[in-house]
This record gives sequence, C-alpha cells and structure tokens, in this order.
Amino acid sequence: MSETFHEEDESRGLDLALWRRLLRFLRPQRGPVLLLCSSAVVLAIIEPVMPLTVGRIIDAANAGRQEDLPGLIGTYLALIALFGLIVFAFIRAAGDIATGMAHDMRKEGFAHLQRLSFSFFDRKAVGWLMARMTSDVGRITSLAPWFLLDLTWGVFYLLSLAGWMLWLDARLALWVMLIVPPLVLVSAWFQRRLLKYQRRIRRTNSEITAAYNEGIMGVQTTQALSRETAALREFQRLSDRMEVSSRRNMVTAAVYLPVVLSLGSLGVGLALFRGGAALEMGRLTPGELIAFLQLATHFSQPIQELAARFTELQAAQASAERLQSMLDETPDIVDPERPDPEPFAGRREETGEPGPIRSVEFRAVEFHYTPEEPILRGFDLRIGAGESIALVGATGGGKSTIAGLLCRFYEPAAGQVLVDGIDLRERSQHWLQSRLGVVLQHPHLFSGSIRENIRYGRPGASDAEVEEAAGRVGADRFIRGLEDGYESEVGEGGCLLSSGERQFVSLARAVLSDPAIFVMDEATSSLDVETERRIQRGIDTILRGRISVIIAHRLATVRRVDRILVIEGGRIIEQGTHEELLRREGSYHHLYRAQFARQSEEVRFEEGRDGDGPAVGSAI
Ligand SMILES: Nc1ncnc2c1ncn2[C@@H]1O[C@H](COP(=O)(O)OP(=O)(O)O)[C@@H](O)[C@H]1O
Ligand SMILES: [Mg+2]
Repeated sequence: MSETFHEEDESRGLDLALWRRLLRFLRPQRGPVLLLCSSAVVLAIIEPVMPLTVGRIIDAANAGRQEDLPGLIGTYLALIALFGLIVFAFIRAAGDIATGMAHDMRKEGFAHLQRLSFSFFDRKAVGWLMARMTSDVGRITSLAPWFLLDLTWGVFYLLSLAGWMLWLDARLALWVMLIVPPLVLVSAWFQRRLLKYQRRIRRTNSEITAAYNEGIMGVQTTQALSRETAALREFQRLSDRMEVSSRRNMVTAAVYLPVVLSLGSLGVGLALFRGGAALEMGRLTPGELIAFLQLATHFSQPIQELAARFTELQAAQASAERLQSMLDETPDIVDPERPDPEPFAGRREETGEPGPIRSVEFRAVEFHYTPEEPILRGFDLRIGAGESIALVGATGGGKSTIAGLLCRFYEPAAGQVLVDGIDLRERSQHWLQSRLGVVLQHPHLFSGSIRENIRYGRPGASDAEVEEAAGRVGADRFIRGLEDGYESEVGEGGCLLSSGERQFVSLARAVLSDPAIFVMDEATSSLDVETERRIQRGIDTILRGRISVIIAHRLATVRRVDRILVIEGGRIIEQGTHEELLRREGSYHHLYRAQFARQSEEVRFEEGRDGDGPAVGSAI
C-alpha cells in the first residue's frame, strides 16, 4: 500500500516524455483518431458560424428583407443537423479508441507478465499487478480520447473565435482578448490546487479501502484481541481526513467557476461598452454586435476546458507511470540466440517425445537473492539417471532455492546448473518446461472441472488417461466420492477443494505429464498425517524411473528415496540412504528423533480425541 502513496506523490509536473511513449497505443487506432480530430476541427469552425447566422437573421428582419429569411433559417437548421452528426461521430470514435487502446494495453501487459521471471513476482504483489491491468488501464484509456478531442477542439475553437471576431471588428476583438492572460493565470492557479486536493482524496480513499480490507479480513483477530476501538479510531481518522479534503476540493471548484465566468463577462462587458460606439459610428450592424457578443461570451470556454483536461492528464499520470514501469520490466531469464543443442538427442525414437534425462548437475553454484546475503556458495550436486533424492533440514537452509535453480525460476550468479551435461542457459525455457513436473506446497488450480485441471498436465490426454493418472496417485477415491465426479467444479484457485484434495489433483496432473524430472517442494506439509499417508502411494509412483527432487518437512515422506541430503546454511552436511543416515547417528538421526517424538505426541493427541487415529509407527 505504502508504495502506492509514494508513487502518487512523485508525479508532480506533467511528464510529456512519459505520455509520448504511451502514444504508441494510439497508433493502431489511426482511423478513429483521424475521425475524432477532424470532427473537432469542423466543430470548432462551424460553432461560431451559428451566432453569425443569428446576427444575419436579425439584420435581415430589421431591414425588412423578408426574402432573405428562409435561406438564413435553412442554413441555421442545417448547421444544427451537422452539429448533431459531428457529436455522434466523435462520441463513436472516442468509444472505439478507448476500447481499442484498453484491449491492446491489456494484451501487451498480459503477454509481458507471462514472460517475466520469478524474481519480479517476488517483488510485486498480485493485487498490485491486477490494479495496473484494470484500474490504471481504465483510467488512461477513458481519458485519452477526450483529451485528444478537447485539445484539438480547444485550440481550433480559440483560433476560430478570434478569427471571426477580428473579421467582424478588429479593435473590439483586441479588447475581448485582454482577458486571455488573466484567465490563463487564474486557471493554472486553481487547477494546481484542485489537483492537490484530488490527489489527497485518492490517497485517502485507497487508505480507507485498505482499512476496510483489513477490518473485514481481520475481524476475527480484532475481536479476539478486543482491538475494535483502536480499529474504529483509525478508521474515523481516515474518514475525517477524507471529509476535509473533499470539502476543500468542492469549495475550490465552486470558487473557480464564478471567477472564470466573471472574467469572461468582463470581456463581454468591455465589448459591450466599446460596441455601443462602434454601432453608433456604423462600424457594426446591431445583428453583428449581437453575434460578436455571443462569440465573446464563448471565448473563455476553451481555455477553461483545456485547463481542466491538462489537470486530468496530470492526475492520471501516476497510472501511466505504473503501467509503463510494468511494461518496462525485462525478464532476467531469456532464451539463447542459438537453437537448442542436439534437439533430437534423448528423444524416444518411436514417439518423438522427450526421453529420460541422464543427469542433473550443480557445479560450483553461487546464488543470492540480495547481494548482502549469499545463499549458496560453491554448491555441488550430481543426480544420476532415475535417481530420486530428498532435501531435508531446518527452514531457511536453502532447499527451495536449490529446487528453484533446477526449475530455472532463478539463475545462478556464478557456476552452472547442467542437465545432460549442458548448461540450462544454453537451452530454451520451453525445453526445460516440457520435461519438468513441479508440485508446490500450494498448487494452483484454475477454475474449471477436476478433469480439466488434471488434463492441464498434458492437453492432448484422453478421458481414460486422465482417470488412469488420478488412479495411479490414489486421487480417484475422493473424486468419485464427489457428486459430479471428474466434472466437479474446483472453484476459483481451487477454493471448493480442501488442500489435500488440491494436492491430489496436482499430483495427478504431474503424473499425466510424465515428466523426465520431477520436483516437489513441501507439497504435503500442510496435510494431516492420515491424508499424507494416502498421498504417499501417489508420490512413490511418480518417483519411479525418473530424476526426482523431493523436499518434505515430514521425514516419513522421503524415507524411500535413493538418497537423502541434509541441507543447512546452503550446504550438504550429510547424505545417504535413510538407513545409512540413521546408523551414522548424525544430524539426520537427530532430526528424525525430534520429529518422531513430536509426531507421537500429535498422534497420541488425535487418538485421544477421536479414538481411532493411525498407529504411531505408521505415522512416521
Ligand atoms: N524470494 C526470496 N527473496 C529473498 N530471500 C529469500 C527468498 N526466498 C528465500 N529467501 C532466503 O533464502 C534463504 C533460503 O531459503 P529457502 O531456500 O526458502 O530455504 P528452505 O526451503 O530450506 O526453507 C532463507 O534465508 C530465506 O530467507
Ligand atoms: Mg522451502
């Protein structure tokens, strides 16, 4: 949240370079933009013709030239019709521009986000990104066509009014134009104040939204800790600030309008004062004077509109900055220029699908998230064909980091991660992704059915194959128990399923994709012992015949892997099979003992509660 306030504050003056960069989104809208601008120009030119025609009608009536009247009135009506047509055209064009721009910006933004590396998403919250794609894009695209319209119209309208007034009576016109400098100054002053209050209102508004969010999400905690009064007081303070800023904004706006109108009237007054003389001296007819006064009345309008539009543009600048900064992010991980080395090696002859992988190797890998805090220093590890390894150890040891480097979520600062002897950086990202199956602690399910979610692992798979994969990991039992079976909806992000069920689905998905390398990071840590035991069979199925890296908090999960590595401070401090490590009575033995004791407690507690919990021995 604090970041948002910060960004609003930074955008003071109008940053034309920034807006110019966003202009490229207007380029595909060339047609509607042309229509919009030409409508604005035509409008600016014909608007002053209407009072002039009225003046002609008056003069004709005065002079008793009845025969001129039908023609003049016809002209007037035609102008009104044309006016309506133009308004229709530019509203249409503005709508097309806004829709087209929003479409392109969202498309580019989405495509860009898909390319960005993990390190970017470490820094930016999902909510922040969503706001960029929805509210910022909406704000910019709803403003852009109207800014364009008013800019073109305003400039041409001013010129056209001035032109017609000069043509009618140059001396009188100069008197009217005396109001321009004070009008510009006053407008600039008021608009600056309005901008300030608007920014303050928006800032307070987002703080209030955040407070609402916290208040609703945390209501149980708040009540449990009896913090309602404090929460309420904080909320009151924000609402008060909102009220003050809103009032000031309204008062400023309320004062601005009459001031501008008075200045405008001053111009008209001057014209009227001097106009009497012009009339007497015969420089103007009464109809021309009336036309002139009408033109003079409109003279302040484009200045006022332009000032307001520039303020809007400046107010929307924070949105533009954030959107542009997101589009400017470059992915850290890029594909090499050259095609993948030995593209056909390691493929199964008959199907052309990726074959098994013979080795994975970390060679002198250095890695840090922030330079001050190195995580891996000269890390070495070799995993052979078909070997399953487990990484265990206390939280913060670097297990997830090692897995992340293998998945190329991050890249080493020095050293290499090699697959089949080739540095991952020499491969395309697609090469690795099509051979990798990853199951994380909180697997992501997409809204849709269970079947669709499993099929995500291999889009071409048949229904039978989907069900077979679910059967192999032991997921079919719970799926068949659901009312709609495989067609059951999982809800947004899988919210209709329990975390154990989501884990079953993601394991089935991994089995279906039949990856050459399988990585699982704390996938079962949040499950209860009983569910974990049921899932264990599925995991054992996956490990067979492929390179696997399993990270698990519960040591029972990893007992059967080929090699267990104890990781501490970014180093392997012990390795071997479960039995070897227990015999050695080192760190692993220690970890195992501690967990055994704790889980016996847990199991005993569960048994005491419902009477038929799992036996102690099988829980480990
Ligand atoms: N995205 C990240 N940004 C900064 N530091 C991180 C990030 N992820 C992990 N770390 C730090 O790296 C170290 C190793 O973390 P991690 O690999 O997650 O360990 P483990 O999986 O063994 O718990 C920890 O000190 C952790 O604080
Ligand atoms: Mg971890």
